[in-house]
Amino acid sequence: MNGDGSPGSAAALAAQLTREGHLAPAWRDAFAQVDRARFLPDRIWVRGGSRGEAPGEGGYHPVDRAADPARWHTLAYEDRALVTHVEDPHLTDDGTETARVPVSSASMPRIVARMLDALDIDRDVAGTDSVSAGGTGTNGIRVLEIGTGTGYNAALLSHRLGDRNVVSVEVDPRIADTARANLKAAGHAPTVHTGDGTQGASAYAPYDRTIVTCALHTVPHALVEQTAPGGVIVLPWGTGLYNGVLLRLTRTTDPATTDPATASGPVIGDSAFMWNRGEIPHRDVMATVRAHPATGTAPAATGLDPRAVFGDEDATFTAGVLVPGCRYSVGHGPEGEFTLWLADHATGSWAGVDYVPGAGTHPLQQHGPRALWDEVREAYGWWRRAGSPARTRYGLTVTPTHQYVWLDTPNHPVSRPMDRTAPVCDGH
Ligand SMILES: C[S@@+](CC[C@H](N)C(=O)[O-])C[C@H]1O[C@@H](n2cnc3c(N)ncnc32)[C@H](O)[C@@H]1O
Repeated sequence: MNGDGSPGSAAALAAQLTREGHLAPAWRDAFAQVDRARFLPDRIWVRGGSRGEAPGEGGYHPVDRAADPARWHTLAYEDRALVTHVEDPHLTDDGTETARVPVSSASMPRIVARMLDALDIDRDVAGTDSVSAGGTGTNGIRVLEIGTGTGYNAALLSHRLGDRNVVSVEVDPRIADTARANLKAAGHAPTVHTGDGTQGASAYAPYDRTIVTCALHTVPHALVEQTAPGGVIVLPWGTGLYNGVLLRLTRTTDPATTDPATASGPVIGDSAFMWNRGEIPHRDVMATVRAHPATGTAPAATGLDPRAVFGDEDATFTAGVLVPGCRYSVGHGPEGEFTLWLADHATGSWAGVDYVPGAGTHPLQQHGPRALWDEVREAYGWWRRAGSPARTRYGLTVTPTHQYVWLDTPNHPVSRPMDRTAPVCDGH
């Protein structure tokens, strides 16, 4: 065990997170006792940083414990996300090898700490303080986790609440098996269920808390139904333009309301997570553009600088809410010029805006049934007229049939109620 506080240990990671203000006192012991390294495979993947690449550039490259034990060990206790499973690389139509696609990871420890703190497990549903930091689970709070991944998060919860009060669901059977083995080796035995977490885990419901560790766009109503009235749901939420924010929803407490199985709550911060496997947006914007060549479109231009929208995270978040199904990518030129591409794969619509430094207007192409740049421009105009609200002023309400995004209060919806039978992401 690395409980001695030495560099490169669970205790040192807990101390660092505490020093930097990321770890609530109630979770310090759990982070110091549950050894993150035990939950990592011998091969982990980090982005960029291989020969000739700056961090953040390029694809993911492996760090093998056997070949580079010092680096592997250092990474295990750093406050950074580590990819633990990747899909095999594959060749595209033109014969080039694509970057490996990460499918599971150990999340960044400060985000893990933030989400666990937001669950508020120290209070039972009636509002009574009762869980000790030492973790005996005396208040009987029961937690459902979606996205078991390595099992680290489930182990932290088990440490605080006891194995019997933690149920975790993982969609990928190989990853679920590995998580079970990791948990067992670390002395924990929460229930790990293999299945699609968007269905929840009804056999063990109800739960007092639900934590989702893959990004959702459509919040499944099963998660609301299986969370007890007054319970809390913490989840990463994203759109095709912005992945994403952290939401903290509270399940309706009043059984007398006409719509009791409703959950609602605000954005409480940022979080970029891997997508729920059923909602991965179409990855390749340019494939949509290439598949639908523009023919005979009249030259057009826009006076809106694309950086005003895509250089401001609050504006981008708002555009993601108001322009469903849209993705973007940017092709950079050598002199600061770039083309912003927008695409909606489901309808084959796309737009391209050319930015040239110093130019007052920007050449524009739009193609297909949706005028995507016009939609983005209207969303931006709405955001400006609303006073350029920060994304933490938004929230989400989920009912049995719909979900909608609101500004400041649930009675100020900003998105059309979205029928969950017509998800925004196209599932590719
Ligand atoms: C960021 S990782 C989770 C990290 C994890 N909580 C941990 O402590 O290591 C996201 C996980 O969600 C899983 N996942 C994605 N979609 C899912 C779904 N619909 N149901 C259950 N698990 C899902 C992925 O396979 C992946 O293992």
